[in-house]
Amino acid sequence: MAEEAVNIVAPFVIGNAEEYERVLARQLPEDQASGSYDDIGTSFDTLFGSADDLTVSEAESLDRIIRQLPARTVLDCTCGTGIQAVGLAALNYVVSASDISTAMVQAVESKAREKSLDIEVRLSDVLHLAEWGAQCFDATVSGGNSLAVLSSRDDVFQAIRSMANRTRDGGLVVVGGRDYALVRDRQEAVYGRGLRLVSEGVLGTVPEWTLDLRLFGVSRVQVRHTFLSLRDGLLVPRSFVKSLLYLSAADIVSGFAAAGLRNISVTDITGEHEYAGGDWYICSGRVGDEPQS
Ligand SMILES: C[S@@+](CC[C@H](N)C(=O)[O-])C[C@H]1O[C@@H](n2cnc3c(N)ncnc32)[C@H](O)[C@@H]1O
Repeated sequence: MAEEAVNIVAPFVIGNAEEYERVLARQLPEDQASGSYDDIGTSFDTLFGSADDLTVSEAESLDRIIRQLPARTVLDCTCGTGIQAVGLAALNYVVSASDISTAMVQAVESKAREKSLDIEVRLSDVLHLAEWGAQCFDATVSGGNSLAVLSSRDDVFQAIRSMANRTRDGGLVVVGGRDYALVRDRQEAVYGRGLRLVSEGVLGTVPEWTLDLRLFGVSRVQVRHTFLSLRDGLLVPRSFVKSLLYLSAADIVSGFAAAGLRNISVTDITGEHEYAGGDWYICSGRVGDEPQS
């Protein structure tokens, strides 16, 4: 309890960026550098007001981008709980999905079953996507700032190459991300996600507050997703710590260019408007040669 309290107040200890980086290095155990969301599992969905609404809007955004091909088969290679994969399957795409986390892969399997959607799911590292063999898809997708959880920019570039390798000639690689450097520049160290009532067995329902506490380092931001529930008059904290690279749209565009992708474009999060510098962006680029006119 005391240890939690110390960690929770850590983001308020304002220092310079190098100091933050040293704090991050001390606080994050090695294994968290892997970026797997195995610890969060299905709690991930409770970070959002409505995961179902988000699933619909994320799929609509991606659909605006990939229907230009037109695309039928899609691989979501950092699927999490399926916020993009499930939404795209509901729009009648033939969706395959993978993640490095067993809990996440299971979450997608059970959501697909619940919603009677057919999604082929595998455990696979986006750096290689080896479990998909030589299969190629019309579009490969990584949404929700997933590439930012990787260990380095080199790994982000490697992930983009591996996505391109699993995309058919003329198909699209699509990466949705968040520019956390803009959040850092606005000094938004605390973000309240909201209050909900959770069922606690014999206690009935108890209120639970969710907030993100952010510790801005030099090259990464540490985000502590924190759930505070009120039980027997006590605030009981539960938190999941994630470390994310600062990745701008320009960084992803560089990765696309390095992977030899063409017709690279960047939109806002709706997939509808040209990117004008907001936090969230979607980059897309084509694999292979320009079509002959
Ligand atoms: C921020 S979550 C986003 C999930 C989902 N795309 C969404 O928007 O809700 C990042 C996901 O990437 C997964 N991940 C992290 N490292 C990975 C890797 N090397 N290969 C595949 N998935 C990875 C995590 O387990 C997690 O499910």
